[in-house]
Amino acid sequence: MQQSPLRVVVLISGNGSNLQALIDRQNQADCAYQIVKVISNKADAFGLERAKQHLIEVDTVPHQSFDDRETFEQALIHSIDQAQPGLVVLAGFMRILTPLFTQHYVGRMLNIHPSLLPKYPGLQTHQRALDAGDKQHGLSIHFVTDELDGGPVVLQATTNIQANDSVETLKAKVHELEHQAYPLVVNLFAQGKLNYQNHQAWWSGQALTTPLQIEDL
Ligand code: GAR
Repeated sequence: MQQSPLRVVVLISGNGSNLQALIDRQNQADCAYQIVKVISNKADAFGLERAKQHLIEVDTVPHQSFDDRETFEQALIHSIDQAQPGLVVLAGFMRILTPLFTQHYVGRMLNIHPSLLPKYPGLQTHQRALDAGDKQHGLSIHFVTDELDGGPVVLQATTNIQANDSVETLKAKVHELEHQAYPLVVNLFAQGKLNYQNHQAWWSGQALTTPLQIEDL
């Protein structure tokens, strides 16, 4: 008997191109997850339109309507848990999260970050890579822990920085890789091949000592 797909809630703040890649992956026969709800902290996030076009339930939890981070996060938890997800996926969700939130979803929340972590946690990652004269840049997908952009990394994808690259060209290259990588990793989790134990990411029964590459999957 076929197992029912893993219920996934996606959190966004903006364009939602990664959300779109995750939605598109659902058309493939081996997709083991289903996005059941998309939540934004911004009412005008274009990603909400993408979700609606695919008849996915949406919600907005506007952070500025709450007195403090804790009440915002409690409202967010409430909205997420109504959908009973097996996995929470942060896809361009631009709020710093406190342990109240991260501990509630430990081992079942992933984030995608546009740098080769531990390099450049936080913002302006493309600019910082250019300013540092780096030869390579890329993205990391990691389990979310209390530490900002600091949880165990599951996969990294790399692009070379060329002499004529700008923030815009670099961002576009990283985005293209993100759209390949995130659906692969979310599907791995949904298939039960990826999990989180003892503060580490595990893939196919082994603790990951180095991040996976797209080519490994
Ligand atoms: C992505 O590049 C993602 O890595 C980044 O926001 C972008 C969202 O794009 N996330 C972070 O910076 C989190 N720290 P999208 O809305 O088009 O998917």
